[in-house]
Amino acid sequence: MSAMQPTYLHDYQPPAYRVTHTELKFDLSSSATRVTARLHVERHPAHQDAGALPLVLNGEQLTLKRIAVDGEELEADEYAQDDATLTVHRVPESFLLDTEVEIDPAANTALSGLYQSSGMFCTQCEAEGFRRITFYPDRPDVMATFSTTVIGDRATLPVLLSNGNPVESGELPDDRHFVTWEDPHPKPSYLFALVAGDLKKVEDRFTTQSGRDVTLQVWVEEENLSKTDHAMASLKRAMKWDEETYGREYDLDLFMIVAVNDFNMGAMENKGLNIFNSAAVLTHPHTATDAAFQRVESIVAHEYFHNWSGNRVTCRDWFQLSLKEGFTVFRDQSFSADTNSAPVKRIEDVSMFRTAQFAEDAGPTAHPIRPDHYIEIGNFYTLTIYEKGAEVVRMLRNLLGWELFRRGSDLYFERLDGQAATIEDFVGCMSEVSGLDLTQFMHWYSQAGTPEIDAHGEYDYAKSEYHLTLRQRTAPTPGQPDKVALHIPIRMGLVGTKSGQDLKMTVDGESVGTDTVIHLREYEQHFVFTDLAEAPVPSLLRGFSAPVKLRFPYGREDLAFLLQHDSDGFNRWDAGQRLAMLALEDLIAAHRNGVEKVMDVRVVEAFRTLLTGETDDKAVLAEMLTLPSEAYIAEQQPVVDVDAIHAARTFVKQSLAYALRDEFMAVYRANQLDAPYAPEPQQIAARSLKNVALSYLVAIEDEEALSLAQAQFDADHNMTDVRSALTLLTHSSRNDLADPALRAFGEKWSHDPLVMDQWFSIQVTRPQADALDRVKFLMEHPKFSLKNPNKVRALIGAFASNRVNFHRIDGAGYRLLSDVVIELNKLNPEIAARLVTPLTRWQRFDEARQELMKAELERIRAEDLSPNVYEVIEKALAD
Ligand code: TRP
Ligand code: ZN
Repeated sequence: MSAMQPTYLHDYQPPAYRVTHTELKFDLSSSATRVTARLHVERHPAHQDAGALPLVLNGEQLTLKRIAVDGEELEADEYAQDDATLTVHRVPESFLLDTEVEIDPAANTALSGLYQSSGMFCTQCEAEGFRRITFYPDRPDVMATFSTTVIGDRATLPVLLSNGNPVESGELPDDRHFVTWEDPHPKPSYLFALVAGDLKKVEDRFTTQSGRDVTLQVWVEEENLSKTDHAMASLKRAMKWDEETYGREYDLDLFMIVAVNDFNMGAMENKGLNIFNSAAVLTHPHTATDAAFQRVESIVAHEYFHNWSGNRVTCRDWFQLSLKEGFTVFRDQSFSADTNSAPVKRIEDVSMFRTAQFAEDAGPTAHPIRPDHYIEIGNFYTLTIYEKGAEVVRMLRNLLGWELFRRGSDLYFERLDGQAATIEDFVGCMSEVSGLDLTQFMHWYSQAGTPEIDAHGEYDYAKSEYHLTLRQRTAPTPGQPDKVALHIPIRMGLVGTKSGQDLKMTVDGESVGTDTVIHLREYEQHFVFTDLAEAPVPSLLRGFSAPVKLRFPYGREDLAFLLQHDSDGFNRWDAGQRLAMLALEDLIAAHRNGVEKVMDVRVVEAFRTLLTGETDDKAVLAEMLTLPSEAYIAEQQPVVDVDAIHAARTFVKQSLAYALRDEFMAVYRANQLDAPYAPEPQQIAARSLKNVALSYLVAIEDEEALSLAQAQFDADHNMTDVRSALTLLTHSSRNDLADPALRAFGEKWSHDPLVMDQWFSIQVTRPQADALDRVKFLMEHPKFSLKNPNKVRALIGAFASNRVNFHRIDGAGYRLLSDVVIELNKLNPEIAARLVTPLTRWQRFDEARQELMKAELERIRAEDLSPNVYEVIEKALAD
């Protein structure tokens, strides 16, 4: 079957024909929408002398009603259609193509193309959804200006939106009306958007640095009008930040955001008309947590930043996806760091990265930042493309320094404006402005897998020298058995054991200061630091300066020392995580061997110091008091033992709570806020610190702590505190407290889908053995629907992250997931392929679980699969 054949990067050819202008007319109706298209087509210059070339257009699930070239209707033998393409055998060098098709938005449960969500019409065209709307060369290197007329019922669809500026509108017979939009910026089809519905807007303005007056609109269903303030404020901050930081200004008179309830991802950067998952735009102190407020801010910024990194300069082909995504994630991370607490932002990003991206890189779907083949591009919107891509851009920023990096970025935007670019174009600009040879660096884009660095150091007292040896190795990944040595920049310092200060470092007779970057380019390299005043403990990979695993044989005293003295905030946090990991590993072994668990007093003392010491950053302190997650711990184990990990982590948490009860209590009480809720850094920091402290106290089911949690829930001050309290009660063994709270919460918020998502997740992530029964029960809940991706993530996705219950040894967790994947494969392949991920990691577990997981993968394989699920399953079961 052709849909199951891979596409290869090395097969790239420029298109035979390009479209310079696209005129569209949509006559909207639920199950029979008419799409009329007039394409202005011409032969691509790269194929000028190639003789007669057929015109091949993409098109899926379209019913062709009419086709004409330069006004002449085509005879049946002049074109051919299959389930994915339309071929016109002979066309002139330059011509007008007219087509008319009928499509069925109401039947579109895949949420790609034109579909309906809560009564409104909306589109999602990235990556290859436009071909479900009309016949088109649906590839990002075909860029056209668009003129779009949308026709709909005046009563049910009063608002009709598309890209660009509205240029005409009017009434039509049968109570219908129309609006025509023109987008003057040439764009690929994946950036096309249309929205029609009964929507209300909030409006604001922004004046750009060159004086353009931009109208900003956020469109939502009426009941959500009170939840738009934060998105609008975030948008204005992002617009200003991109002008100040990257010199990038908005380029239309209108910028619109629309919230829709059914959406496969977070949001989409359609030119001038960003479409958002309602979860990524709506906030209110009573319905959204601090984390949700921050997520909304960063996604609004991310989509806005795409206007340059993605839209003005787009991707030549989908293999270059990280060109826009990696760069844009880097830009949104920097924005959030500048707007909130920079160290906490880095800690959060890195802890997610080391848990989830490392797992992806270690599993059967591992792929480079620039893959060289794919069956379904929808499967490549991954942590590797997005987050590892951003880490690689961050390394470039650090290698060049900000000023040169900014110059390279200016050159890139200037030179490639209006074009479809490659990763070579981007890195080439960076190399050109800096004179740096980035040849070796380019391997980061083509080599999959996480480099592992083994570091060893020795202090020579006699010579006052520190000798550091680094070895790099990248384990084989599917299709890449042999790995080259990468250029790995390692930021580091040497912390004096007597002074607790960063020592001045000298390498090869040259002073390199107290914080430097060493460049590992070979498989093995030695570095000698001379003229040291005292014996040091090395602080390596400061700020997570490269996306690698770095091992160093630190003793527990070394880590306790770095936790106190490292001048790099990130590495101070990381020292704490490493110290906790050493203790956790002992306890995992004790659990497995059935010996008594003993708590490491050094961890207790380190926590005591943290809890009682001075702090100027409560948000960082909250991170330091947070133990590595079960998922992160699992990543560190050769064979994952979910029960031992859960038992060890629970033991550490409870031991800390028993030993430091009064200290946690004092921190909880000292961080109560009376001020009205605001999602600002100081309040967020206090709330996270308070709620971390409470989580320890509730872990020992201390009566006083339980009543504090109950009181915090009852006080109903803001969703951050309410959700924290409800989670702690629900994840305790005290059903007598949890059940009434869950009931009250569920009744109070049954009208609000985003709050109900939280209610679903909280219940199915509890460690108690009834979690799986609750999932089954909640799948029957009237507010649950398999057709809504947010609900699927909230219930099924959340359950699959519940380590002890998803991995139940009777296999019931796996079976439940695969049952849902089989259903979703028919409804929404993109979501189905994502949901199956936890099963694909079967190789990490004990033999009994491996067999159970593989059996479920085989059961899925026996189905009639979408290309999305097929590709993932085949990789997961390949040997
Ligand atoms: N380009 C979008 C972003 O990163 C991603 C996206 C939104 C997407 N919706 C999608 C990708 C649907 C694939 C399918 O901002
Ligand atoms: Zn993006």
